Amino acid sequence: MAFKTLSALISVVAALQVANAAIIKRVTCSTGQVTSNAACCTLFPIIDDIQTNMFENECGEDVHESLRLTFHDAIGIGSNGGGGADGSIIVFEDIETNFHASLGLDEIVDTQKPFIAKHNITPGDFLYLAGAIGVSNCQGAPQLPVFIGRPNATAPAPDLTVPEPFDTVDSILARFDDAGKFTPAEVVALLASHTVAAADRVDPTIPGTPFDSTPSVFDTQFFVETQLRGTLFPGNGSNQGEVESPLQGEIRLQSDSELARDSRTACEWQSFVNNQDKIQTAFKAAYAKMIVLGQNTQNLIDCSDVVPVPKTLNKAATFPAGLGIQDVEQACSTTPFPTLATDPGPVTSVAPVPPS
Ligand code: HEM
Repeated sequence: MAFKTLSALISVVAALQVANAAIIKRVTCSTGQVTSNAACCTLFPIIDDIQTNMFENECGEDVHESLRLTFHDAIGIGSNGGGGADGSIIVFEDIETNFHASLGLDEIVDTQKPFIAKHNITPGDFLYLAGAIGVSNCQGAPQLPVFIGRPNATAPAPDLTVPEPFDTVDSILARFDDAGKFTPAEVVALLASHTVAAADRVDPTIPGTPFDSTPSVFDTQFFVETQLRGTLFPGNGSNQGEVESPLQGEIRLQSDSELARDSRTACEWQSFVNNQDKIQTAFKAAYAKMIVLGQNTQNLIDCSDVVPVPKTLNKAATFPAGLGIQDVEQACSTTPFPTLATDPGPVTSVAPVPPS
């Protein structure tokens, strides 16, 4: 009996080992790196090139712009047409970067184009590879997924697929629903991207003005600071799509302000405050959905393991110096705002993000 049990146990272990080997299949590329699929090997030289020569291994402006570019390309789909996450914003740059919502993105497209020309990769695959690799330079970020196999884009997206900061919450939620059946919770999760972000054009007199006090860290400060009472304009006063922010040197979009205060999204918004696990998992899941919009996923190869694991963040969210719970405009009616410490010292102002 004991022998029978032991042999049964051994065969279970053997079966598990076989299954395990099948799950974590590994390929060693000629460059020495290891990945799960030989087709992903071509990405390693591209990654080395863009990390050194485009991003300079930092979470700076080119990373922020590359992340923004993934959104403006992918959201180009819906009831009025468009191919979604197909790289059309690069292929049809002259059309799509002239749409009002995407003005300024020609700069990052022009930065990316020589790298695409140099390497054997479609614009769509490159654009989303660059987004994920760039974000891996931001401390606290999730390791974002990468899929390859997108064919060349054949047509530009129509205008008016990208939400504007002066759009209403109704229209923003409707646009995301139309583009990819994103729920209001997924819309909030996608806006975690504004934790590594700045605006060049909302107030053109102060380019590089961040949306939170830590624009090179993928933390939850964006969700804290957008909930604080706005008291000032960082530049020349109110511009279209801009509302008052709580800190010198920080800009607040009207859309972020309203999503933080709307009854459909406020509790979700607040739930990200000081929840580093949530910002990582929820953003990663919503982003994974975004980057395959319009694609036949059966034709795509999962190369996510080529993405470096970002540095972890071990700092709790805080109220900026001089501010506290009394400055919170509580919008979630069911859960109180989390308890946070206030940064020590006098009130500070946020430095602009330098151009790459
Ligand atoms: C309601 C939806 C959204 C609106 C209205 C919006 C609007 C904006 C605006 C107005 C800017 C500043 C552009 C400039 O003046 O230079 C910006 C920047 C940015 N957005 Fe969004 N956005 C939205 C959603 C998203 C999503 C879903 C992502 C990514 C997943 C994203 C990523 C970024 C990034 C990374 C930047 C910073 C770019 C930089 O620092 O150069 N945004 N967004």
